[in-house]
Amino acid sequence: MPDFAELHFNGEVYKLPVVEGTENEKALDISKLRGQSGLITIDPGFKNTGSTTSSITFLDGEKGILRYRGYPIEQLAEESSFMEVAYLIIYGELPNSEQLNKWKVDITYHTLIHEDFKVLLEGFPSNAHPMGVLSSLVTSLTAFYPESLDPVRSADEVYMNIIRLVAKLPTIAAWAYKNEIGQPLMYPKNDLDYCGNFLKMMFGTPAEEFQPDPVVIKALNKLLILHADHEQNCSTSTVRVVGSSHASLYASVSAGINALWGPLHGGANQAVIEMLEAIKADGGDADKYLAKAKDKDDPFRLMGFGHRVYKNFDPRARIIKKAADDVLNKLGVNDPVLEIAKKLEEAALSDPYFVERKLYPNVDFYSGIIYRALGIPTNMFTVMFAMGRLPGWIAQWKEMRENGEPIGRPRQVYTGENERDYVAIEKR
Ligand code: CMC
Repeated sequence: MPDFAELHFNGEVYKLPVVEGTENEKALDISKLRGQSGLITIDPGFKNTGSTTSSITFLDGEKGILRYRGYPIEQLAEESSFMEVAYLIIYGELPNSEQLNKWKVDITYHTLIHEDFKVLLEGFPSNAHPMGVLSSLVTSLTAFYPESLDPVRSADEVYMNIIRLVAKLPTIAAWAYKNEIGQPLMYPKNDLDYCGNFLKMMFGTPAEEFQPDPVVIKALNKLLILHADHEQNCSTSTVRVVGSSHASLYASVSAGINALWGPLHGGANQAVIEMLEAIKADGGDADKYLAKAKDKDDPFRLMGFGHRVYKNFDPRARIIKKAADDVLNKLGVNDPVLEIAKKLEEAALSDPYFVERKLYPNVDFYSGIIYRALGIPTNMFTVMFAMGRLPGWIAQWKEMRENGEPIGRPRQVYTGENERDYVAIEKR
C-alpha cells in the first residue's frame, strides 16, 4: 500500500501522508496542506474528519463493533463492573485485584462533597433541569480544588482530580435530584458500592431505610458500562477541545456535560420516552409518527433512531433491548411504552425510508425504558448517561494532555461581505 496519496490541484501535485491505525483504518494527513498549497479542507459536523489518534475505543460502524481498549463491549457488559471498566478505560489495562481494590477504596473515600455545595444548590429554582445543575456543580469543583487549575500537574495530582470527579459525580447528581423534589439531601454511605450508593442517595430519606435492590444495581452497572466511552462523539470532542486550551479536568468535563444534554446526543434518552408517551396518549398509532418522521416539512424526528457512525446496528442497543426485557420481567414491571417502542422499531425497520438511510435504534431507544423501570425520573436520564460517560471523558482528556496535543482551532471558509467602508449615521 502506498504511504501517501496525491492531490492534483492547479497544475501542482501535493503528497498527503497516509496514517494507519491498528485496525487498518486509513486516513490522509492534511495538517501541512495549507502551508504547501493554501488549501484547507471543509467538513461541517466533522463527518469525515479524524481529530486525533486514540488508543481508547475502537468502533466499526459498518460491522457494529465496539471495544474498550480492545475488549468487546458484549463481554464487558455481561461480566465486568463499572468500576473495573472505568479503570480500564482511564488507565489502559484491566486492574489486578490490588489495583481494583485501591481504586474502589480511593473513590469511596472521596464521595462526600463540600457542605457549601448546599448553598449553591439552594440558588437554583426547584424546576432547574438536573443537567444544568450537574454541569454547574462540576465546574464549581474548580473553586473547591483550585490546584486542579494548574496546567502542569504531577501524575499524583491528576490521579486525585480523577478520583474526586468519579467519586463526587453520583453525589452531585443525587443532590441535584433531591433539591428538585424538595427532599433532604442524603449523604453517601461508604459501605455500599458505586451504584448502590447512588441509588441510596437518590431514593433514600432520613425517614425510611432504603436498601437498593441487587437487580437494580446490576442493571445500572450494565447501563453505565454501555455508555462508558464512544470515541470522538460530540461531548467527548468538546471535552478534548476545551481541555486543549489547558482548561482543568473539571471545566472540560462540565463542558462535555452541556454538549451531552442536547436531544440529538445524550438528551435523546429523555426525548425518546417523551415521544413514546406522546404516541401512547395519541392512541398508540406508530405509523402516524413514522409518517411524520419521514415528512421533510415536519421537524419531527424519530428519537432514538439513527447514528452518525453505526450504519447496520448499534451493538449497545442490542444489549439494552434484551436487558430491558430482563429487567422489566425481574422487577415485574409492565410498561405499555415498551410495546409501543417495539411496534415502532418493527415498523421502522421494514420501512424503505429508514432502510435506505440505514437508520436503526441507537443506545437511547431502550435505555429510557430501563431507567423508568428502575424508578429514575425522566429528566434524570441524561444525568445517568453523563455518569456512565465520565470515564470516557476523563480518559480522552488525559490522553489528549499526555500526547501534548495542540489547541483545537478549526478553520473556516468565509462567505460574508467583502471589505466595505463604514458610513456614520450620527455625528460624534
Ligand atoms: N428520524 C427521521 N429521519 C432521520 C433520523 C431520525 N431519527 N435520523 C436521521 N434521519 C434522516 C435525515 O433526515 C437524513 O435524511 P436525508 O438524507 O433525506 O436528508 C438522513 O437520515 C441522514 O441523517 P443526518 O441527520 O444527516 O445524520 P447525522 O449523522 O448528521 O445525524 C443523528 C445523526 C443521531 C443526530 C440523527 O440520526 C438523529 O437526529 N437521531 C435522533 C436523535 C437521537 O436519537 N440521538 C441519539 C444518538 S445515539 C446517542 C449518542 O451517542 O449521542
